[in-house]
Amino acid sequence: MLPCATDGFVAPRTGLSVAMSFVQKVLRGRIVTFCGNPFELPPSACLKVEEDGFLLVHEGKIVQVGAWSERSQYLPENADIIHYENALISSGFVDTHVHYPQLPVIASYGEQLLEWLTRYVFPVEASFADEAMASSIARRFLRELLRAGTTTAAVYCTVHPQSVDAFFAESMRLNTRMIAGKVLMDRNAPENLRDTVRTGYDQSAELIRRWHGKGRQSYAVTPRFAITSTPEQLEAAGDLLDIAPNVFMQTHLAENREEVRAVQQLFPASRSYLDVYDRAGLVRRRSVFGHAIHVDEPDLCRCHASGAAFAHCPTSNLFLGSGAFRLADAKDPRRPVHVGLGTDIGAGTSLSLLKTMGEAYKISQMNHKPLHPVQALWLATRGGAEALALEDRIGSVTAGMEADLCILDAGEGEFLQWRMERCQSVEDMLFVLMTLGDERCVRATWVAGECVYERGSDMT
Ligand code: GUN
Ligand code: ZN
Repeated sequence: MLPCATDGFVAPRTGLSVAMSFVQKVLRGRIVTFCGNPFELPPSACLKVEEDGFLLVHEGKIVQVGAWSERSQYLPENADIIHYENALISSGFVDTHVHYPQLPVIASYGEQLLEWLTRYVFPVEASFADEAMASSIARRFLRELLRAGTTTAAVYCTVHPQSVDAFFAESMRLNTRMIAGKVLMDRNAPENLRDTVRTGYDQSAELIRRWHGKGRQSYAVTPRFAITSTPEQLEAAGDLLDIAPNVFMQTHLAENREEVRAVQQLFPASRSYLDVYDRAGLVRRRSVFGHAIHVDEPDLCRCHASGAAFAHCPTSNLFLGSGAFRLADAKDPRRPVHVGLGTDIGAGTSLSLLKTMGEAYKISQMNHKPLHPVQALWLATRGGAEALALEDRIGSVTAGMEADLCILDAGEGEFLQWRMERCQSVEDMLFVLMTLGDERCVRATWVAGECVYERGSDMT
């Protein structure tokens, strides 16, 4: 195994680790992945479990997956074998909506969306004019993501281009697959956080040229939400999507009732909040709409038809009192909409997708449509990858996929171990993990075939 730094993180890639990457690595343990969509088929039929599995990794990709008993006899001579006992080997988690600059204001008391933005979010985002601040928070954020088992995220930066440079530079160093972009805001925001149609366009275009498709990085055009962009800026955002292939778009949609009313007043000609974005050419594949709580049937049909995705952010929706996302409705097999899970830090209260799955379950209970644990894990992995149109690269443990993995277990606490021992099936384990677990249940995280985090490691 690669040397890990004292707090569990490996050192940045060195000559040594580059040389070692030619060694083939084999993970042994219980592998969990999917053979179907659990919102279309019975969930239990969609979970694929290899009880004593064999997973061969080479040059950043998964090369073979199967049963240890069948494959281990053909082990390459120089293979490095890592045996994860009493654990689940899963695809790395995908967080489809998160704000890295808001990490310092997570857990800020007492407001709903619009007041919370003014009181806590705008002041902290203003401090990202300082690139040193941006670099230091980007570094902490990405380390926390990996500690939580998250290997891909769609990330909002701030209005400052340097906040994007800082983020992608750190992600390049870690070799993580990330999507990020500069927030666009040309009205209804403090002066020091505003751009203009022209500067927002030019800066975004320059960032696309600098980062989109570099290593594992992708750019997302990021108008914050309809309240803070003029119709002209939304139009310009639509134009930006066409300057390079496969550029993403991310924004917020219908999160809070007061916000929805403000959008109706600002855009009286639009049929709905989604329609504001649609008129600007922003509703399409690789568009990710955060929240989408207060949407109607025509909106759902439009998202289905266009391939746009929703990011369901349950801890945030509970924290800000925004409302209950209707997941079962969005996933109705007659016109399913792509949905992934989002932590939405700083309104969200945890970077752990396990915790986010558990809170999604509680919201689904309020809607009387309980989220099955297999559906929850699917949303956090394969479903997230599909929402981001990345399912040909990440989100499942199958040959040909990039080797982004997280290894889950009961953690080091005696109580959760005791509870997990009482589980009769992998489904039971998943449900206990999502209900009681968090980042403490991540034993290790792998990025592009390298172990980048190992819980409690004292390796140097
Ligand atoms: N709507 C517009 N901006 C934001 C934000 O930063 N967080 C959340 N949760 N909603 C938003
Ligand atoms: Zn958000």
